[in-house]
Amino acid sequence: MVGNHRASAVPGKELPQGVTIPVLGLGTWELTGGECRKVVEAALEMGYRHIDTAQVYENEEEVGRALASAGVSRNQIFLTSKIFRDHLQGSDVRSACLRSLERLGTDFLDLCLVHWPNRSIPMAETLEALEALREAGQIRAWGVSNFTAGHLREALQVGRPATNQVELHPYFQQRELESACRELGVPLTAYSPLARGRAVREPALAELGRVHGKSPAQVALRWLVQRDCVVIPKASAPERLRENLELFAFQLSDTEMERIARLDTGKRLLHPSWAEFDREE
Ligand SMILES: NC(=O)c1ccc[n+]([C@@H]2O[C@H](COP(=O)([O-])OP(=O)(O)OC[C@H]3O[C@@H](n4cnc5c(N)ncnc54)[C@H](OP(=O)(O)O)[C@@H]3O)[C@@H](O)[C@H]2O)c1
Repeated sequence: MVGNHRASAVPGKELPQGVTIPVLGLGTWELTGGECRKVVEAALEMGYRHIDTAQVYENEEEVGRALASAGVSRNQIFLTSKIFRDHLQGSDVRSACLRSLERLGTDFLDLCLVHWPNRSIPMAETLEALEALREAGQIRAWGVSNFTAGHLREALQVGRPATNQVELHPYFQQRELESACRELGVPLTAYSPLARGRAVREPALAELGRVHGKSPAQVALRWLVQRDCVVIPKASAPERLRENLELFAFQLSDTEMERIARLDTGKRLLHPSWAEFDREE
């Protein structure tokens, strides 16, 4: 698909390691096959310039096909992938990353994340291997995901992650991790920013949306952007993709931000058996 592409209106945010990330990206978990390709192409056509995938999403080839056919030059797109927790040994990191590059049909990732920490593999080994990939130009930056403050302190002995990508939405607000990340200089990326679709049915967000002529999804995403987070909502319908892009022409007041702060339940939606959320030291 080659066409007239709208220039992206999404602002960028500077991350450690000298990369600038569009503050809104497209999440692709659970998008596979032809649907994944169509959604990524449509998103690029609309002005998305940041795509979030992972090896375990099993869609890197389809994302790669969409990147190749969308007619937007590779260097205008910020592409993130993630290495799963069973490939974090030093020698595995390099081969896993090279396999991702092959599937995605690209020479480099803009950001390569450790998808989940794994205490059975020395963290320095993983991060040093990522740093070597960065020096070789195969990735522009590396970061982490699902890291606690304890994991981050350990990571900082090797280098500063470009971001920590974590579950973050109106029902799970991560206030303690947010302050630790600010103190440690590691910006947050909010995954499942719509609480996997639940936030769009939240009456308080709908009420705030009516004041601004915006939807509950737009209010939830705007609240995260005003908290200085990068957001990566997943959507498949074109009208939802478009809606999620339109976050940058309105502002929530401090009172409105506080109203959303009261929705926190402190409960995660995602807590797989391998998570190390106990590691807060
Ligand atoms: N690092 C990690 O461990 C990790 C974990 C989870 C997620 N992630 C990343 O974060 C991304 C986003 O998280 P997520 O996919 O869990 O959930 P999410 O983005 O919070 O929610 C996605 C759901 O919201 C719906 N939706 C999106 N925009 C909407 C709108 N404007 N109005 C109404 N409904 C809307 C989508 O519907 P349709 O799709 O039907 O349109 C989908 O059902 C993932 O895709 C993935 O890239 C990372």
